[in-house]
Amino acid sequence: MPNLLAGKVGIISGALDERSIAWKVAQKAYAEGARFVLTNAPLAMRMGEINRLSEECEAPIIPADATSMEDLEKLFRGTQEHFGGKIDFVLHSIGMSTNIRKGKHYGELNYEWFQKTLDVSALSLHRMLAVAEKQDAFNEWGSVVALSYIAAQRAFLDYTDMSQAKAVLESIARSYGQRLGKLRKVRVNTISQSPTKTSAGTGISGFDAFYEYAERMSPLGNAPAEACADYCISLFSDLTRYVTMQNLMHDGGFSTTGISEEMVELLTNSKG
Ligand SMILES: NC(=O)c1ccc[n+]([C@@H]2O[C@H](COP(=O)([O-])OP(=O)(O)OC[C@H]3O[C@@H](n4cnc5c(N)ncnc54)[C@H](O)[C@@H]3O)[C@@H](O)[C@H]2O)c1
Repeated sequence: MPNLLAGKVGIISGALDERSIAWKVAQKAYAEGARFVLTNAPLAMRMGEINRLSEECEAPIIPADATSMEDLEKLFRGTQEHFGGKIDFVLHSIGMSTNIRKGKHYGELNYEWFQKTLDVSALSLHRMLAVAEKQDAFNEWGSVVALSYIAAQRAFLDYTDMSQAKAVLESIARSYGQRLGKLRKVRVNTISQSPTKTSAGTGISGFDAFYEYAERMSPLGNAPAEACADYCISLFSDLTRYVTMQNLMHDGGFSTTGISEEMVELLTNSKG
């Protein structure tokens, strides 16, 4: 069904380069008839890659650090001014941990960085929604999607403080989903995505092992970024109007697999 998002207006955060999940969401949203503003942290935009996406999708860029209420107020105000109306969808595709970047293991986390991780990767969703609520920025039946990872539910030590950030992110999606559902009939969900080879993903120590393990454990294999973008589009569309306050697994079956034949074979062979 083409033009799933015809007439819809939104905000897409987190497109850093071609590998970014948000980059694919922008391309697919554009192809489905949506108009939107692209946003990212001013620092991240210095790389300039986002300008290419902006041209390709005819989407203006409004820089915003997701931890700054002032920036977010400008972002939501600017988007509504640009399109002359309210917003139908928001993609939160933001994550950053200095503890991961600096290679800290779970027992030696720096707590200032830990707080920054929570602020950038989780509280930013609350900030965005609080700003949108104050500005009454959403159209009825709007949709918000934030990207999460299964380390919110299961221990993956190399994911360090991002595990807690994702747990908080999913919890905010539930609570704000309840609030915005009542206020504006707006839905809020998280998508828990397979390991994906992006800038944020590959920054995690042991990422290649995460990736290969998940690939072998998932009956459908790891879900690629393009497929994640398709799922986002379906959640922004009117076909999913009553899906809200959910953490939706988009992982090729990883989360409900006990062990796979591939893993059995691998471990049997490794015993020699
Ligand atoms: N790559 C994976 O394996 C994977 C798996 C599951 C979930 N996710 C999640 O998907 C989302 C997108 O990540 P990605 O894999 O596309 O990587 P990415 O590095 O392309 O995207 C992360 C984005 O966050 C932005 N960002 C960081 N700090 C910010 C700030 N203060 N304000 C505004 N933006 C800021 C970055 O500039 C970047 O564009 C993240 O939430 C990530 O945790 C990724």
